[in-house]
Amino acid sequence: MDSIVINGGGALHGEIPIAGAKNACLTLMPATLLSDEPLTLTNAPRLSDIRTMTTLLQSLGAEVTSLQHGQVLAMSSHDINNLTADYDIVRKMRASILVLGPMLARHGHAVVSLPGGCAIGARPVDLHLKGLEALGAELELKDGYVHAQAPGGLKGAVVAFPFVSVGATENVLMAATLAKGTTVLKNAAREPEIVDLAQCLRQMGAQIEGEGTNTITVQGVDSLHGATHPVVVDRIELGTYMLAPAIAGGEVECLGGRLDLVAAFVEKLDEAGISVEETPRGLRVARRNGRVRAVDVTTEPFPGFPTDLQAQMMALLCTAEGTSVLEETIFENRFMHAPELMRMGARIDVQGGTASVSGVERLKGAPVMATDLRASVSLILAGLAAEGETVVSRVYHLDRGYEKVEEKLGACGARIERIKDR
Ligand code: EPZ
Repeated sequence: MDSIVINGGGALHGEIPIAGAKNACLTLMPATLLSDEPLTLTNAPRLSDIRTMTTLLQSLGAEVTSLQHGQVLAMSSHDINNLTADYDIVRKMRASILVLGPMLARHGHAVVSLPGGCAIGARPVDLHLKGLEALGAELELKDGYVHAQAPGGLKGAVVAFPFVSVGATENVLMAATLAKGTTVLKNAAREPEIVDLAQCLRQMGAQIEGEGTNTITVQGVDSLHGATHPVVVDRIELGTYMLAPAIAGGEVECLGGRLDLVAAFVEKLDEAGISVEETPRGLRVARRNGRVRAVDVTTEPFPGFPTDLQAQMMALLCTAEGTSVLEETIFENRFMHAPELMRMGARIDVQGGTASVSGVERLKGAPVMATDLRASVSLILAGLAAEGETVVSRVYHLDRGYEKVEEKLGACGARIERIKDR
């Protein structure tokens, strides 16, 4: 298992290109299952999660060709010959459940392993299943797999989600495009990745209105045709790299960054004393003067402060002047970065879903361990500001969602290198 070594303390200067969104790509790829014509994605990120989704789609008989060093994914599911998504692939990546809705909608049958939990929580998929049942699917759980049938095809319905779920909204939205009649998704997720998916489905001939609001209406059509679609920029990678100059000092321009994708996050950066300005090529970020100020953060569904930036924001607030309170409302166990940050001298008191962070002047480098994707990158950020050497182990978590993090930060002057496992 590779490690990443950071020698902290130096300010950063330069520019960081932001890639296409992992969480958009992971729902756009299964959309190929809705049509027998080719779907091509451009601006795709080069990440291990994308390679896992590629393996899953290929196991179903879809063709997925990675072009231009992985930035273009040319897909076709004309010859699907297997409607079972195996546990040994699904357990590696929960987003695999997103093949269920499309397979069911187009083929009337699907067998998909339940994803199981992950480090940040139990992460059930009951809303996905209830939503598809509302469209007429008959589901049976057996041996850890969902056996789904829709012999006469899916039928449009009103699907009212009891609480916001990104994945359930995506699964039901994709299924609804081929259901007979009208589907209304109520309390739908509003994330930019949902908007991106809806735009891609519309290019494929779907009839969708209201994406980005909490009510999405879909008129089912008989079939969808092919399309070419650019993956939206990754707002979580963007927010992560915006925090690099905030925590280490200096000034960095995040190329491709869009303010509308990170408005709630930028509001908090501004409160903390970080300046963000729009440039013709993206967002330029610098620490205004002196120490960062403490701010309180509560994670919420979009357009609120994203849970996927909570760990990274905590790293910044570990060095702020004053005490910050972070409330994690989306996942039940998303503070595993806290004990690792405390090994670096951070002062954090975790009580259930709330963490109080009393800022310290400087963190101290230490050997720490990555536990999940966003926790691992928060340790990298902390290492940039810490005195001395930080070694982050188990960085396979990191590679799921961040392309060449050491190269992107190294190009801005960070003293960071990857140590390949012997
Ligand atoms: C997506 O996960 C993202 N993953 C997550 O990003 C992100 O943290 C999350 O949305 C929230 O924004 C992808 O898009 C691949 P949810 P998802 O359904 O769809 C509970 C990252 O770091 N829930 O919105 O799984 C669930 O347990 C990852 O890139 C149910 O109870 O999130 C959670 O507590 C981490 N039943 C809450 O709802 C369900 O059927 C929100 O989950 C579905 C979800």
